[in-house]
Amino acid sequence: MNYLQNKKILLGITGGIAAYKAADLVRKLKEVNADVRVVMTAGAMAFITPLTLQALSGNPVATSLLDTDAEAAMGHIELAKWADVVLIAPASANTLACLANGLAGDLLSTLYLATPAPVAVCPAMNQQMWAAKPTQRNIQTLIKDDVSIFGPGLGAQACGDIGAGRMLEPLEIVAHLQSLLAPKPLLNKKIVITAGPTQESIDPVRYISNHSSGKMGYALAQAAQQLGADVHLISGPCALTAPHAVHTTTVTSADEMLATTLENIDNADVFIGCAAVADYKPQTVAAQKIKKTAQSEMSIALTRNQDILATVANLPNKPFTVGFAAETQDIEHYALDKLQRKNLDMIAANNVAIAGQGFGAEQNALMVYTPNSQHELALNDKTRLATDLIQLIAEQINQHNN
Ligand code: C5P
Repeated sequence: MNYLQNKKILLGITGGIAAYKAADLVRKLKEVNADVRVVMTAGAMAFITPLTLQALSGNPVATSLLDTDAEAAMGHIELAKWADVVLIAPASANTLACLANGLAGDLLSTLYLATPAPVAVCPAMNQQMWAAKPTQRNIQTLIKDDVSIFGPGLGAQACGDIGAGRMLEPLEIVAHLQSLLAPKPLLNKKIVITAGPTQESIDPVRYISNHSSGKMGYALAQAAQQLGADVHLISGPCALTAPHAVHTTTVTSADEMLATTLENIDNADVFIGCAAVADYKPQTVAAQKIKKTAQSEMSIALTRNQDILATVANLPNKPFTVGFAAETQDIEHYALDKLQRKNLDMIAANNVAIAGQGFGAEQNALMVYTPNSQHELALNDKTRLATDLIQLIAEQINQHNN
């Protein structure tokens, strides 16, 4: 579903190296038939020219609050009223600080105060600047003021640092904007999601785990939150930033994940078991580090972990319960078997034998089964796919309730 069709998007560009990506963002927004008008701060113009943005958006670019010609064409109040949504990408630390404090020293920050439209920002800055207390304080203020925060992403930065602070890629921003403008079918619904791997201790320094990155579970949590749900994410150890406006609890072992899930499952409308929970844990955890011996072999006795998903699915007041099945063959057969055996309402199956999808990858494809329907979600970015899956869940629970 394209929620950006004919939507009027006021794109604010601020001064940061990621400003060059704003040109591609305008193209991607035009491709989904949005009407784009660009506002640039003085800093943005040091990185990219208004002419480029004018050519790509097909509209004049506004750059100054005190420009009589521009004000005569479309004044700042008119521009603020014109927008269906204001998107600021990249959003610099300075602009975030201005917005959080209601400063209106330039055209963009004035428009922020003057618009009745929803506002989304895509922070982009050095990882130290992003982590800095004032920036984080400003972000919390903006969240309280109902500003949507898209990103930032993790990874290598233009300055050579590695960490959180990269502007999301234009396609990811478009996907976030789609969810922002999407209807909110999950308003007042409580959703509990497990994500990531679990770690099962062998001794104080070693554990058994798996390669789950947590990306799919985190993307589901963010997508459910954007469609209006109250989301609690219970995550095993992974290197991802907690999604914005999602209550996140980190756990280590399957036992802890089970306990935290059961503590939080009362009144949940939906449970999604997306975690790659270890099936087995060491029978005993050695109190001291196990020493190497002269033997060339050693073995560790394992015992089964309790199945969190099946436990929730068999609660007396069970929520709509969704499981995941990572298979390497015969997907439909195994997925349907699991759906029935674990008493699930929905199962999302993926083929982890295909390179580039599933564990650790940015993309995934899913076959989704309910007891009486099946749906194919084609290969896509995990963020996009997560939104599609959450939308499917919303349709199912709303059908259930009718
Ligand atoms: O049976 P299998 O482990 O393949 O099922 C996978 C599904 O079950 C996933 O949704 C996973 O989150 C869930 N699961 C669980 N607790 C376990 C094992 C798997 O919740 N101990």
